[in-house]
Amino acid sequence: AQNHLLLLPGDGIGTEIMAEVEKLIAHLKEKGLADFSFDTGLVGGSAYDAHGQAISEEDMDKALKADAVIFGAVGGPKWDDVPYEVRPEAGLLRLRKDLGLFANLRPAICYSALADASSLKKELVEGLDILIVRELTGGVYFGEPKEIIELGDGQKRGIDTQVYDTYEIDRIARVAFDLARTRDKRVHSSEKRNVMKSGVLWHEVVTDVHKDYADVQLDHILADNCAMQLVRNPKQFDVIVTDNLFGDILSDSAAMLTGSLGMLPSASLGAPDASTGKRKALYEPVHGSAPDIAGQSMANPIAMLASFAMALRYSFEMIELADKLEGAISSVLDEGLRTGDIMQEGCKKVSTAEMGEAIIAK
Ligand code: NAI
Ligand code: MG
Repeated sequence: AQNHLLLLPGDGIGTEIMAEVEKLIAHLKEKGLADFSFDTGLVGGSAYDAHGQAISEEDMDKALKADAVIFGAVGGPKWDDVPYEVRPEAGLLRLRKDLGLFANLRPAICYSALADASSLKKELVEGLDILIVRELTGGVYFGEPKEIIELGDGQKRGIDTQVYDTYEIDRIARVAFDLARTRDKRVHSSEKRNVMKSGVLWHEVVTDVHKDYADVQLDHILADNCAMQLVRNPKQFDVIVTDNLFGDILSDSAAMLTGSLGMLPSASLGAPDASTGKRKALYEPVHGSAPDIAGQSMANPIAMLASFAMALRYSFEMIELADKLEGAISSVLDEGLRTGDIMQEGCKKVSTAEMGEAIIAK
């Protein structure tokens, strides 16, 4: 089928926020705005309870066949003591590995209504909309050698190795340029070529790939300067492409310019399919299963719905619909609706379903 999704709600608030995605899909179909078919599956603790695995082979198979996977969250105290190989996170790691998701997309969007809650001045963050594209499967987190060796005399040496091959930089650069084409057509590539050989290669390969994207503006920025500029004047950026380590730090830092964990979406993309050209993709909120509020209809569904907006934008080229959904989130916040995690004075406190339904109605 066309536009086929696999919904994996997972554990804790994962099921509560995914219910709002299901309502949205039904609404889009009813209004003739978009027609998605979907399967649902189990992942994390709920999959362990059902099959003794963090994700079943059957659900992995569905994930591989889907046009996009929509993932809630996994984990919780109930599964803290299950064997390591079948712990809830193993389900997510298996999905990332088998789908080959090497590109992690983390937007930092500032909704006007929440600009006051930012740790930066309102005028610096209001209207902020940047996208960090982080390389997810290479670099210093995976390079060999990786070890601690004994040097004698009580001295030890900790070694991690930053390794990047041309193909790894080439493919992440293409993701960034492709994404930039659906946005403001500007990319900043960030590395430290002044002190790192992998940075020299990064700069060289990104510059080379850029020849295929003459319509996109490319700037290079050293990663330390990038960190500073993100706090000094974040709105100068549109897309930032960077390696695994710098991306980890820059994306967490950029995301927190804008507010609560319950607001942050993400996407992970793989290589384009040889025949269809479509990339494997998984969309998920940045937050976890929030066991402290699970089952109380208190969870903020915005990170989940904003992740679905990313799916519309990046997997299905439904740019207008993605804009509408993000716009609806923004206006519902303007109207003063708040779940507990983003509650502000003078605003109206609502449940997960009330927030989801208000966004869908808008
Ligand atoms: P968490 O993100 O689940 O919660 C941290 C805090 O933020 C909690 O106080 C929670 O109530 C709040 N929060 C998170 N999302 C929210 C939402 N949508 N609406 C309102 N409040 C929200 O992180 P924590 O507590 O460290 O981990 C809980 C479980 O989630 C653990 O088992 C952890 O391993 C797992 N986890 C799973 C992730 C995933 O599925 N990708 C990511 C991070 C953690
Ligand atoms: Mg991190």
